[in-house]
Amino acid sequence: MNQIINLSGKGYSQIDQVILALIIQSLIYFLFGYYLFNVLPKKNGFSFSPFYPFKFLKKLLKSTSKKKNSIEDKNNYNDETIDMERIGENESCRLEREKAKNNSNSIFRTINLGKVYSNNSNEALSDVNIVGEKGDIIGLLGPNGAGKSTFINILSGLVKPTNGGVYINGYEIGNQMGKVYQNISYCGQFDILYKDLTIFYHLNFYTILKQNSTFFLKDNKEIQEYCQSLLKRMNLEEHKDKKVGQCSGGIQRKLSICLSLIGNSKLIFMDEPTNGLDQSNREMVYETIQSIKQDRTFVLTTHNMKEAQILCNKIAILSKGKLKAVGTTNQLKNSYGLGYQVDVYFKNLKDGNTLDNLIGYNFPTAVKKKPISQFLHSYSIPNDINLDYIFYLHNNKNENGILDIKISQSTCEDILLKVVENDLQM
Ligand SMILES: Nc1ncnc2c1ncn2[C@@H]1O[C@H](COP(=O)(O)OP(=O)(O)O)[C@@H](O)[C@H]1O
Ligand SMILES: [Mg+2]
Repeated sequence: MNQIINLSGKGYSQIDQVILALIIQSLIYFLFGYYLFNVLPKKNGFSFSPFYPFKFLKKLLKSTSKKKNSIEDKNNYNDETIDMERIGENESCRLEREKAKNNSNSIFRTINLGKVYSNNSNEALSDVNIVGEKGDIIGLLGPNGAGKSTFINILSGLVKPTNGGVYINGYEIGNQMGKVYQNISYCGQFDILYKDLTIFYHLNFYTILKQNSTFFLKDNKEIQEYCQSLLKRMNLEEHKDKKVGQCSGGIQRKLSICLSLIGNSKLIFMDEPTNGLDQSNREMVYETIQSIKQDRTFVLTTHNMKEAQILCNKIAILSKGKLKAVGTTNQLKNSYGLGYQVDVYFKNLKDGNTLDNLIGYNFPTAVKKKPISQFLHSYSIPNDINLDYIFYLHNNKNENGILDIKISQSTCEDILLKVVENDLQM
């Protein structure tokens, strides 16, 4: 047979050589393809630097002296330049910035986070510092275009920031994406489900997919039991064998929420989670979130201010890409002097003008809200002000042409309107 003798004297047939060459070529092409996949810019998500294999090797050589998987380089962001611009920074944002800089044990923190899209010269996010700690449910509020989705998309690895740092459970976005992905879950604004698969199959599939060293079910029986417990928690048991395409929008929404709760993710993003759910299902979702929040952080966006008030222990208000205020509802109410909302219904238009004068005279710090109807005026009155005069008006309704007066506590909506009022007027 045709034999080729190599230097070591061992013989290989030509076919062996061809196979060997093919294997080596495939390996080279695979590595080259993998390299290109990682470095070429993508529409969404992160790309590595072209020199990343060298960096990786360097890190590998150094790693013996460092703790495994260790995490943050606390000073790898530059804070000096931005301090110059912070003259008008609100106190709550200043405190949050301090916390973000120092609190390395948080579930997530963004430090001077900024984003400018390549096709849009405006800053979608500018210098945003927010910290999420264990047990926090953070409501991200703001008008359209405020930067809420950009914020969530950066934290979930879909969009690359242009400035600043983001750490999730200690891992840095951009450099440790594998670890970051293991720590996050996402429930998008729109349901992304497989119409031909059943609800139970979805749960089963995602449970298998989300297993890792911190969330491990040892056999099929445990997986099935876990899925059953999820069905029970979200009240989906009777629909478990239905194909998703045959389920109502509300059920699909509940399934999307349920999928984002699978596993051990420390940070869960929810974009308008209860949109399209009826009141009882909303309450069930609130209870579920509350019952599993202990060692996690939730970040949710909502246009339902009541939801933000009931569910969130921390509110962060964005407007035009900037963080305008952050804190608990009560802290924000106090710092913006919001206390009560007084709604006055009257009979004639001229009574409305008289009423404005009376309120303005007796409560100089009251703010009149945009009227819903010509015969209903609403005012925001700070909480440190004595409301006796309102009770006096109520007792003498007829003299002032008033039909009825209602007093209620200010809501998240009042806070939001107050915080972004200047931006809305521009
Ligand atoms: N893919 C994109 N390309 C260019 N500009 C974008 C893109 N996504 C968002 N923006 C801009 O960034 C700003 C913030 O948008 P977004 O984060 O979607 O706000 P929100 O979710 O609060 O409504 C807006 O001015 C928007 O026009
Ligand atoms: Mg959005």
